[in-house]
Amino acid sequence: MTILVTGATGHLGGLITRRLLDRVPATDLAVSVRDTTKAADLATLGVDVRQGDFTRPDTLRFTGVDTLLLVSADGPDELRKAAQRDAVDAAVKAGVQRLIYTSVSDAATSPLSLAKVHAATEAHIRDTGIPFTFLRNGMYHENYTASLSGALDRGSLVTSTGTGAIASVSREDLAEAAAIVATTPGHDGATYELTGPRAWTFDELASLASSVTGKPLPHVSVTDAELRAALVAAGLPDFVADLLTDINANIRTGTLSQVRPDLATLLDRAPTPIEHTVRAALAP
Ligand SMILES: NC(=O)c1ccc[n+]([C@@H]2O[C@H](COP(=O)([O-])OP(=O)(O)OC[C@H]3O[C@@H](n4cnc5c(N)ncnc54)[C@H](OP(=O)(O)O)[C@@H]3O)[C@@H](O)[C@H]2O)c1
Repeated sequence: MTILVTGATGHLGGLITRRLLDRVPATDLAVSVRDTTKAADLATLGVDVRQGDFTRPDTLRFTGVDTLLLVSADGPDELRKAAQRDAVDAAVKAGVQRLIYTSVSDAATSPLSLAKVHAATEAHIRDTGIPFTFLRNGMYHENYTASLSGALDRGSLVTSTGTGAIASVSREDLAEAAAIVATTPGHDGATYELTGPRAWTFDELASLASSVTGKPLPHVSVTDAELRAALVAAGLPDFVADLLTDINANIRTGTLSQVRPDLATLLDRAPTPIEHTVRAALAP
């Protein structure tokens, strides 16, 4: 029984691989990574480390894999849409038995701009006929806690989220859920909507960061155009500024505020609250 994880040198894929190593022998595990030198620690543990880049399908080696855990790629939409399509095709061609894909909340119907790539990949996976599970991951807690120390240094937390709330989720929980799905039966054809335990606002996030550090942190909500201009001025590529502004706008309008039960069911415990990740990020 071989499980292969893609993107294992990234944040989520790395955590998934660690959680899988808690559950199966290293010799049952393979990873596909762009740069094998970054996965030397996994090779030392006995994991089969394969080099592969979705944008160069000839490099993808999925032979002998029973379960493929496809972590969505990053980059501009059109590039990753084609790349993920090619990765799915490579999996089918190699005879993979089962595909688990990390998608996004409500991929098929969400107004989020980034959902289009996930919807296209989900549709393609369905069309191939391969047994699949979609892990529709909510936005990570860590997206928001990672920027808190910078915000504390600058003296304000700037978003365009207004009073909108988001039911974000910890990467660790998503990784544990992915490892459970990959190593237990009964998930074929399932679509899991994975969110955190409650929806929080950016006023609350700022006040949490303030209470942990003792420093004042007002949340300032600006317009989408002002936010985008600030992101570009900070040096982010246009497509990233567009993506982040779109996510902010969707948080404001409530797109990401629904709390779903699937993650608690898979983990058999309550998912990690945002407070925990804020404290971990700001611990002295
Ligand atoms: N839910 C959320 O809040 C959220 C936030 C950000 C991203 N995402 C999505 O979820 C994925 C995982 O998140 P993350 O935090 O782990 O992101 P990450 O740390 O940026 O990891 C992305 C992984 O994808 C790999 N990758 C990118 N392009 C690839 C390609 N063409 N071929 C093969 N591998 C490729 C990267 O390889 P290298 O290690 O070689 O760079 C990396 O390992 C992201 O890629 C993105 O699609 C979700």
